[in-house]
Parts: sequence; structure tokens; C-alpha cells
Amino acid sequence: MFPERRLRRLRRTATLRRLVAETRLGVDDLVAPMFVRQGIDEPQPVVSLPGVVQHTRSSLRTEVAALRDLGVPAVILFGIPASKDPEGSEAWNPDGIVQVALRDLRDEVGDDVVLMADLCVDEYTDHGHCGILDGNGSVDNDATLEVYQRAAVAQADAGANVCAPSGMMDGQVAAIRAALDESGHGDTAILAYSAKYASSLYGPFRDAVDVQIVGGGDRKGYQQDPPNAREALEEIRTDLAEGADMVMVKPALAYLDVIARVRHEVDVPLAAYHVSGEYAMVEAAAANGWIDGDAVAMEHLLAIKRAGADFILTYLARRAAEALAG
Ligand code: PBG
Repeated sequence: MFPERRLRRLRRTATLRRLVAETRLGVDDLVAPMFVRQGIDEPQPVVSLPGVVQHTRSSLRTEVAALRDLGVPAVILFGIPASKDPEGSEAWNPDGIVQVALRDLRDEVGDDVVLMADLCVDEYTDHGHCGILDGNGSVDNDATLEVYQRAAVAQADAGANVCAPSGMMDGQVAAIRAALDESGHGDTAILAYSAKYASSLYGPFRDAVDVQIVGGGDRKGYQQDPPNAREALEEIRTDLAEGADMVMVKPALAYLDVIARVRHEVDVPLAAYHVSGEYAMVEAAAANGWIDGDAVAMEHLLAIKRAGADFILTYLARRAAEALAG
């Protein structure tokens, strides 16, 4: 009679909708990115990321313990060193800020939180690029692989469960896997930032880590070009062949098509990074009263899962975990 009414029947009550939901967002889907800065006594707010701070060693411990209590399964650490140099040597200094923070956190939370370490040198180089510069000012791929190997070993020595190379150098996963295996860290996993685009959505992150690329430069010579989706699949396949345990698409919302395609192609755990600019846009619009920030935030995270991600790196982790706990 009125067959067009069929689809509305299952939307009538909240419980019906809950019963037939195809996608669920849970606390287990969340990974919290955390910034830890050397040489500060108080946490420093990041203006372009409201609610996010550069932590001291001690405030980091407290925050990660709170995340553990909320059931958040993992954090990923980014360090801001007190001094930077052309090679980014604080990235592999055993007493570098991320390495000491990893030891603190292992002591604080044991195995109750998966400790991931972003593996790159842009936070540590004085020129702000993700690798070693050659004589022409472009990033030397193979020289960079050597420093990534040192950083991987330093992070694993300090207790990282997962190294997450984000520099988009060719061969980085194979290089890091070899270095980890040779140093007795066969159990340390690799989450590869495989399809990482040269996005304009990383601006607030660069404020958070005090990075400016020398001469107003960019990362287009190593990160992926936004028009390309098939190339993302090439990146993913290459990283898996090199030994990646998990792969990532980044950013998330502007690249949901890429997440969906990758999900279709591979069966390993797939991460998506809801990046700083994506978070900042929601916060800015919400602060203006233009959107309901919490509702939009949850809708964003759900969309990323619906596209096929298994877990999400997001500055919303704490708030989402609190909301999910009811
Ligand atoms: C590189 C790195 C970046 C982000 C994560 N790892 C910055 C970049 O590539 O310029 C960006 C994350 C974000 O915007 O939230 N170490």
C-alpha cells in the first residue's frame, strides 16, 4: 500500500536505532595524541588547539593515567625538545624528551595503555623538515632513513610498544623494521603513516610542536599529493611488504574515500588520524555558537569508523571517552 514508509519503521525510537546501528564508536577506538615538552614547569596551552596542552613530564603521567581510567587503550607521543639541530638528534638521544616520557609512562601505567611514539624528526630539526637536508635544501631520503633507525631503537629501548613513522620517506618501514629486529626489539610493532597527505590541515599541530619550516617551505616533496587516491594504495601495499603491522590514512575527514578504499584492499588494522586542523575547525565553529561542537565531534568520529577505520588518533579522545562512559 504505502511501501515507501518501510525504511522509517526502524528509526522510531532510540532503542530501535541502537539495535540496528551498523557502526559503533567505542572507547577502544580512540588513540590520544599527546605533546610533551622538555624544560617546562607548567603545561602550556596550545592556542590553536583549545583544550590541548604541551605537557610537562609530570602532567603527562597524570593525564595518561586518567585516560587509562577512562579505558582509552593507547596514546601516541610527540616531543618538543629544548634544543633543535640540523639532524634532529634529540629524536634518538636516550635522555631525549620522548624517551624519558616513555619510561615515565611505562612506570605509571605498565601494559594498561599501549605506548605509541611518533617517529619523525621535524619536531627536532632546526629547519623543520622531516629529514636530513642535502646540499640543495631538499630532504635526502637515505640519510634520513639512518636517523629514523636510531630514533626507532631509542624509542623501543625506552619502552614504546609501537613506532609510528610519519616522515613519508621511501623505505622507512623496512629500515625501521631491520633496526628494531637487529637491536632485539622484534616485538615492537610498526604503525605506518602510509597514506599521509601534504595537507593544509596540520597548521595547529605545528603550533603545538613549535615547528616552522625554513623559508616558508612545505612537505610536498615527500608527503602525498591530495589529488591522488590510487597512489595511497601503492603506499599501503609498499609499507605492508616492508613489514608494517598497521597502516594509517591521514588526515581523516577529507580522505574518507581513501579510508574506504584501503579498508576494501587490506585486512590489517587500519588507523585514521583526525588531525589538528579538523579538530580546530570544530572547536572554532562551536566557540562561535555556530554548531554543537560535541555532537559534530561524535558525528565526525563515527563517520571515520563508518568509512572503515579500526581506530582513530584524535584530540577528542578524552572528551569522547568521557561522553561514551555516559
Ligand atoms: C610529523 C607529523 C605531523 C603530524 C603528525 N606527525 C605534521 C606534519 O606532517 O607536518 C600532524 C598531526 C596533526 O595535524 O594533528 N611528525
